[in-house]
Order: sequence, then structure tokens, then C-alpha cells
Amino acid sequence: MKLKDQVAIITGSGSGIGRAIAIAFAREGAKVVVTDINEESCLKVLAEVKKYSPKSMTMKSDVSRGDEVKKLVDITLDQYKKIDILVNNAGTGTVHFLEDIPEEDWDRIMSIDLKGVFLFSKMVGKVMIKQKRGNIINIASTSGHSPHLQGNAYSVAKAGVKMLTRLAALEWGRYNIRVNSISPGFVRTPGTEIVYSDPERHRKRAEVIPIKKIGTPEDIAKLALFLASDDSAYIHGEDIVIDGGFLTTLYQQIPPRPPNK
Ligand SMILES: NC(=O)c1ccc[n+]([C@@H]2O[C@H](COP(=O)([O-])OP(=O)(O)OC[C@H]3O[C@@H](n4cnc5c(N)ncnc54)[C@H](O)[C@@H]3O)[C@@H](O)[C@H]2O)c1
Repeated sequence: MKLKDQVAIITGSGSGIGRAIAIAFAREGAKVVVTDINEESCLKVLAEVKKYSPKSMTMKSDVSRGDEVKKLVDITLDQYKKIDILVNNAGTGTVHFLEDIPEEDWDRIMSIDLKGVFLFSKMVGKVMIKQKRGNIINIASTSGHSPHLQGNAYSVAKAGVKMLTRLAALEWGRYNIRVNSISPGFVRTPGTEIVYSDPERHRKRAEVIPIKKIGTPEDIAKLALFLASDDSAYIHGEDIVIDGGFLTTLYQQIPPRPPNK
């Protein structure tokens, strides 16, 4: 078992990628703290996680609220006396061009997608500094690498998550805390079901991806497990793109060069 007896907090683990990471970590022996703003989904995922790791727990928390983050960290410590792994996965977005996005939507997305990563990293980071041991994995996005139309605050926040990852890696490496991020491309989850439930849109999106398929939450969970385990012991301050090659496709947009003479 790669994570035997390690304590892992996974934000937004009531659904999609977070849920898959929670299950993958539990199968490898971690005690998982399933946390999400949606209490009902937390309870459902906890039941799945407990099949593999009976000492796991759940608690609702809103990543954008410092008081709730602190409470969750305090209760986790009380329960397990340590925190080995933090996965900052909770995230959300909205579809608007820049000129149209309401200010409150911009603030909400920034406060979940970027400030939430900061708050959890800060509170858990303090614990990990004391322990002189820890591993933080942030879920960014290919949208933080390349702007997408109507990406607004989401793209900006995800680019910020990559920088926050590197900053924390620079400051906390000396405390034996590794920090990395993952940038998924297109993944079918409850959060993106509105996109992929239309078979034609699903097909068209898969078509532009070099390996011709949409990713699954389990694809991302396997990478998170690699980063959480000692198999990646010397990887630090990195962002790993997992997108079936989508970010390589920029040059497809232009007409090819004429043949050699
Ligand atoms: N699915 C994709 O194609 C894709 C691609 C790139 C990056 N991502 C990122 O992966 C992460 C997970 O996405 P997903 O597709 O699994 O989405 P999802 O909507 O299925 O799951 C996200 C979870 O986050 C929770 N959440 C939302 N706001 C919260 C808050 N304030 N506090 C705590 N929890 C909150 C939701 O309740 C939900 O359970 C997100 O950060 C997302 O930006 C997803």
C-alpha cells in the first residue's frame, strides 16, 4: 500500500475528480477526510471510501471561508494528530465573456478557486511545518495555461494556482513539504456533465484531442496518487498537464508550410 496510515484531506471530494482521488487514496491505505460544501454528497462518498479505509471521516466545509477551513483542520488534527496530504481540488466556474461577467461572480470564483487553495494551504501548511513533513497537491487546469473563450475568473484563478504552487514549493521545501499541481484538460464529471451529455459535443471535443478521448476522474486520480506517494519523491514545484495532448494542438490552427523544394 502506497499511503498506508497517511491522513489526507481532499477538498471538493463530494463529486468528480475529488471523489475519485478520495477512493484511490483510501484503496492505498490512507485515512481520508472527505470534505465538500455539499454535505449530502460528502456522506455518499464517505460510505464508498469507508469500504477501503474504515477510519476515514467527513465534514462539510466551504473552502472560501477561513473560519470553516480552520475548524476542519482543527477537527482533523484532533482526530488523527497529523495531516500528511492535502489535495486542493474544490473548484467552480461560470460562462461569461469578460465584458459581461457580474462582479459578484468574479469574486465568488476567485474566492473558491484561488483563495480557497491559499486558505487550506496556509492552515494545513502551518501543521505540516511543525511536523516537518507533508505533501500538497493543487488541482489547476489547462485553462490556466491557455485562455479559453468565456474562461474569465476561472482561467485567471487557475493560472494563479500554478504560481501559488511554485511559491509554496519555494518556501516550504525546506520543511520537507512537497507541493505540486495537476492541470487536467477535458474530464467528464458531474460538474462537466452539461458539456458531455450531448453526444455530438462530446465527439467533437474528443476529436481535437490527439489521443481522441475525454479523460476520466480516475485518470486524474492515478496522477494524484503518484504525486502523493514516494514514487514522486524528487518532484517538487511542478505543474503536470494531463490532457491527452490537447495543449500540443496550437499549430493545428494554422495552414501548414509549403512542401520543401
Ligand atoms: N472536469 C474537468 O474537465 C476539469 C478540467 C480541469 C480542471 N478541473 C478542476 O478539477 C476540480 C474538480 O472538478 P470536477 O470536474 O470534479 O467538478 P465537480 O463539480 O464534479 O466537483 C467539484 C466539487 O467541488 C465542490 N465545491 C464547490 N464549491 C465549493 C466550496 N466553496 N467549498 C467546498 N467545496 C466546493 C462541489 O460541491 C463539488 O462537489 C476543480 O478544481 C476543477 O476546476 C476539472
